[in-house]
Amino acid sequence: MAEENKVVVITIDGPSGAGKGTISRIVAKKLRFDYLDSGALYRLLGLSAVRHHVSVESEKGLMALAEHMDIRFEAEKEGAFKVYLEGEDVSRELRTEETGLLASKVAQFPGVRTALLKRQRMFARAPGLVADGRDMGTEVFPAAELKIYLTASAEERANRRYKELLEKGEDVSLPALVEQVRSRDERDISRDASPLRPAEGAIELDTSTMSIQEVTETVLNILSVKGIK
Ligand code: DC
Repeated sequence: MAEENKVVVITIDGPSGAGKGTISRIVAKKLRFDYLDSGALYRLLGLSAVRHHVSVESEKGLMALAEHMDIRFEAEKEGAFKVYLEGEDVSRELRTEETGLLASKVAQFPGVRTALLKRQRMFARAPGLVADGRDMGTEVFPAAELKIYLTASAEERANRRYKELLEKGEDVSLPALVEQVRSRDERDISRDASPLRPAEGAIELDTSTMSIQEVTETVLNILSVKGIK
C-alpha cells in the first residue's frame, strides 16, 4: 500500500470524565484526522433498546439491534457532531447521565461488543483517526501508532461534569455525581468483556491537576516526538 494511503490511528482510552472527548476532538482537528466517539455507539444502542422495548439485560436482543441500528454522525463546526438515530436528532439525549448508565449496561455483553466492532473499524480512513473510548487500544485498534490512557481522580471527574451540567442549567448534586462516576468506573473496570485498562505500551496521563490546554500540549508533544504531525 502506498505510504500516502496509510491510516494513522491514535487511541485515547480512559474512564468517563477524564477529558478524552475534548482532547480527542482537538487533536483530530489539528491533524485533520477523523474522530471516533465509540461511547456514542454504546449510548445509541442504549437509547435504541429503550425505544424498541428491548431489555438492556437481553444480549441477543441487543446484538440484533446493534447489527441493524440506523445511525448517522453529522460534523458541525468546532469538531462538534450531531447524532441521528433512525433519522431523529438525539444529540442532547445522548449525553445525559441516564443514557450513559444505559450505555455502560449494554457494553457489558461480549456479543454486543463484537457486533459493534466492525462499525468502529470502518471509521479508520486516511489520513488518520483519533479513536476515543475504553478499549480502543486493547481491542478495536491494537496496532495503533500511538496509545494514550487518560485518567483523573473520581472527584475531579465528577467535579468537571458538575460544572458542565450547571452551565447547561441542570440541577445536580455533586456527591450524587461522584457516586455515579464511581459506580460506572466499577462496572467498566470489572466487566469480563474488554474491561477498561491501559493497553500495552499506552502512555498514561493523569489529568487531575492539568488544564485542557496542558493536556493538549502534552499529547501534541508526544505526537511530534513520535513523528506524527
Ligand atoms: O465515553 P462514554 O461515557 O460516552 O461511554 C459510555 C459507556 O459506554 C461507558 O460507561 C462504557 C461504554 N463504552 C465501552 O464499553 N467501550 C467503549 N469503547 C466506549 C464506551
